[in-house]
Amino acid sequence: MRRMPTSLTRYVHVASRAAREAGALLARCAGKPKTVETKRSVIDLVTETDRSAERLIYAILHQAAPEFGFLGEEHGQERGGLPCRWIVDPIDGTSNFVHGLPIFGVSIALEHRGTVVVGVIYDPMRRELFTATRGGGAFLNRTRIRASRTRRLAQSLIATGFAFNFRKHPQPSLRWFQEFQRRSHGVRRIGSTVFCLAAVAAGRLEGFYERDLWPWDIAAGMLLVREAGGRVTNFAGGPPALEGGQLVATNGLIHNQMLRVLKKP
Ligand code: IPD
Ligand code: CA
Ligand code: CA
Repeated sequence: MRRMPTSLTRYVHVASRAAREAGALLARCAGKPKTVETKRSVIDLVTETDRSAERLIYAILHQAAPEFGFLGEEHGQERGGLPCRWIVDPIDGTSNFVHGLPIFGVSIALEHRGTVVVGVIYDPMRRELFTATRGGGAFLNRTRIRASRTRRLAQSLIATGFAFNFRKHPQPSLRWFQEFQRRSHGVRRIGSTVFCLAAVAAGRLEGFYERDLWPWDIAAGMLLVREAGGRVTNFAGGPPALEGGQLVATNGLIHNQMLRVLKKP
């Protein structure tokens, strides 16, 4: 297999710089969006800041590695000359951002031949930078992080989200929500998938699940959770698709307990 052109550390630094610069823009503009438009549904919001943050990220990544492809939520797909692609969500948690609720993040992943090899998530309101490289562990502001050691769903804090098509398809999401709320310490509905995945990697949440996700929601976070010793699958327990869809991300220890709930439609 063709190797990555250079060491992954260089790409972690580049992605971290792009995430921090975009994050500074988000922190300045949170709660003060100049424009708010809708995309795939009336609860799927986008602002001018989503677009300008993504342009800023693109410029930094493209300058560092002009031969890499790019998939951004707002920009779409751009093919590169090498089998490497950046996958970017400039604001994950746009609804929170619009309302000034300070829970959102920037997500940047680097994929090589279908495998995510670098993942960076930046929370600009708490100045927390989460980074992971494949096989190299997961870090929060350079300190190693690990998923929690809680063994029982009954003692776990879980999070979920409701996707852009929730109004059309509220079930089975509402049933699952009720079921997890009954069986755990509680279910949080936080409004940012990347925030939740970083929290699973850092041992702050035991598990997260959601359906109808996009590649930019999950690419960096899946690597973080795996590198922190957690587990990520689809709802049937198989490998999650990078193209998006269903994702269950846990500390590994409660994974099968969560799958048993999610297998009931
Ligand atoms: C959304 C957030 C939300 C999740 C949605 C995502 P966006 O991303 O992660 O928590 O429930 O499924 O689409 O639109 O804010 O980038
Ligand atoms: Ca997103
Ligand atoms: Ca987004």
